[in-house]
Amino acid sequence: MQFGRTTLSKFVIEQTRGQHSEMGALLIDVAAAVKTISALVGKGALSGYSGALDSTNVQGEVQKKLDVLTNEALLRHCEWGGQLAGMASEEMDEPYRIPDQYPRGRYLLIFDPLDGSSNSDVNVSVGTIFSILQRETAGDAETADYLQPGDRQIAAGYAIYGPSTMLVLTVGSGTHGFTLDRESGNFILTHADIRVPEETREFAINSSNERFWEPPVQRYVSECKAGKTGIRGVDFNMRWIASMVAEVHRILMRGGIFMYPKDSKDPAKPGRLRLLYEANPMAMLIEQAGGAASTGRGRILGVAPEDLHQRVPVLLGSKQEVERVERYHQEYDSGTDRPFVSPLFAERSLYRTENSNFQ
Ligand code: F6P
Repeated sequence: MQFGRTTLSKFVIEQTRGQHSEMGALLIDVAAAVKTISALVGKGALSGYSGALDSTNVQGEVQKKLDVLTNEALLRHCEWGGQLAGMASEEMDEPYRIPDQYPRGRYLLIFDPLDGSSNSDVNVSVGTIFSILQRETAGDAETADYLQPGDRQIAAGYAIYGPSTMLVLTVGSGTHGFTLDRESGNFILTHADIRVPEETREFAINSSNERFWEPPVQRYVSECKAGKTGIRGVDFNMRWIASMVAEVHRILMRGGIFMYPKDSKDPAKPGRLRLLYEANPMAMLIEQAGGAASTGRGRILGVAPEDLHQRVPVLLGSKQEVERVERYHQEYDSGTDRPFVSPLFAERSLYRTENSNFQ
């Protein structure tokens, strides 16, 4: 029984009283969509919705039936309430216009309805990621209204559909986690004011891309892999779930660094992850929890978007580690990461010695 515990509705009403009370109502609709998606995803193969469709989304990725259905769930749950000027999603080329029969508001809801959906058929945790921005006035939003830097987000969050379903949320004062009590149907505050541990010995990256990374990322990862025998002097652990929500959740719970850096695999793409509905909301959650989120060359939340589906390099997690990788980028860009060559001794490896000048 959860008597007396803080429900998501209570939390949201308290946190948004005054300036953003209409957004509180919107967040409650988002949570209703998340419960619908949780039930759908939780049925697994019994839902009859596993597998791919013939269509691709604007990124050219094959759409799964669940991508389309979960997108619909968010649209239907959130379009009617009169808080929104429009919605945009990974699964729609253009922003969604609020149907004529519903009133318009000033908020913009942007989402990835089922992040990591390629994992749903193999029963690995997937999630929904969302971001809320606002325009000055109520009315139909244009594409340009969505192109705001992440530090203008009013709220951001994700739901993770794992062994339990959780909703992790920030409205600009800390990052808070709610667990779905499947019996009562309530989200209960179970993780108030989450803090990303500063110290970490865990990194996450898809190392099959190693040959495409820039030197600063190669340098950082080889130092981690060298462990006790390298300049870090300590062993690191590596994880890769291939589901951003699950990686970020792990980092919020026990620290670490997650990287999907810039690479040269496809020169047309400056990164893999999408700025508006993946990188920005996760960056706000991580910063609100005391961590850091960077492209390697600046704060993610400072990036001025040019396109709805723009991609961006992402490094996020424990502050000290993110700052270290940023420093490696600065040193690389300014040419100060060149290996030190001694006239007396052989060239020293970038990654090798205890007293390296790159430490
Ligand atoms: O949409 C992006 C995503 O599925 C993330 O959730 C995940 O972190 C990443 O792609 C996985 O990428 P890769 O297929 O390269 O492992």
